[in-house]
Amino acid sequence: MSMADIRDSAPVAATGTQIDVRGLEIEYETSGGPVHALGPIDLTIGAGEFVSVVGPSGCGKSTLLKAVAGLIRPSAGGVSIGGAPITKPHSDLGIVFQNPLLMDWRSVLSNVLLQAEMRSMPKQQATAKAKALLAQVGLAGFENRRPHELSGGMQQRVGICRALLHEPPLIMMDEPFGALDALTREQMCYDLQDLWLERRPTVLFITHSISEATLLSDRVIVMSKRPGQILAEYEMTRPRPRLLDDDEHPEVDRVSREIRRLLGVTDHATTKKAS
Ligand SMILES: Nc1ncnc2c1ncn2[C@@H]1O[C@H](COP(=O)(O)OP(=O)(O)OP(=O)(O)O)[C@@H](O)[C@H]1O
Ligand SMILES: [Mg+2]
Repeated sequence: MSMADIRDSAPVAATGTQIDVRGLEIEYETSGGPVHALGPIDLTIGAGEFVSVVGPSGCGKSTLLKAVAGLIRPSAGGVSIGGAPITKPHSDLGIVFQNPLLMDWRSVLSNVLLQAEMRSMPKQQATAKAKALLAQVGLAGFENRRPHELSGGMQQRVGICRALLHEPPLIMMDEPFGALDALTREQMCYDLQDLWLERRPTVLFITHSISEATLLSDRVIVMSKRPGQILAEYEMTRPRPRLLDDDEHPEVDRVSREIRRLLGVTDHATTKKAS
């Protein structure tokens, strides 16, 4: 069953919304003084575009995502979504955090349905959809378990279901597949690709995986070390649906090498050969 099959027969949701990030800087106040975490960043994500961000650990990727979602305030510059400046948490989106932030006193199903409650979605329809989504990610039979009874990867999948329940026009995902085993991760990548092809939401996707970024994106953004700034961006133009084992495709090969070089990843095989 593909992600497309679990959509109900309601009309297809509108295409995503444009995101504009202008001169964005974030500084955190800490006991040791201010930490300049991010920026300045200028970035436009077009309506219905899929943009991935890769960069070293601690460079400000999660900070960028939280600022775009309106969860933290910029120290300078700002974000607008669909032309409207973001001054408080933006509600018309689905967000997957780096840690799934589940409520342990609620069952798995009821954690997913939190999204429906917040939006007053019809209960019966939402429950059917939530169950279908959970089955889709391999969690059929776990609906009534509590989050602490699940592995980290399973909890992350519950967070993904919660983010997608209401078919948002805007999806933000912070390393959503990081805690998953390789096969589940591949499947989730393909499911996300299907979902995007079906509905064309705007997606901001943060990942450590160059192959996920090159598979899924229209554009891959590479960030520098903290304070994170944009070092480079690459258009991914090969037709969809794409496959993860397209590594030898000239575009994927070129972009992957460039990103590794920018991030300072040494190819030991090449180094040995050279020495
Ligand atoms: N709430 C906070 N208070 C103070 N400093 C913070 C806070 N959150 C993040 N930072 C700092 O800001 C910088 C960027 O953090 P952020 O979590 O955005 O990085 P990241 O790129 O998402 O890293 P990772 O790939 O490891 O998830 C880091 O140096 C971090 O220590
Ligand atoms: Mg992070």
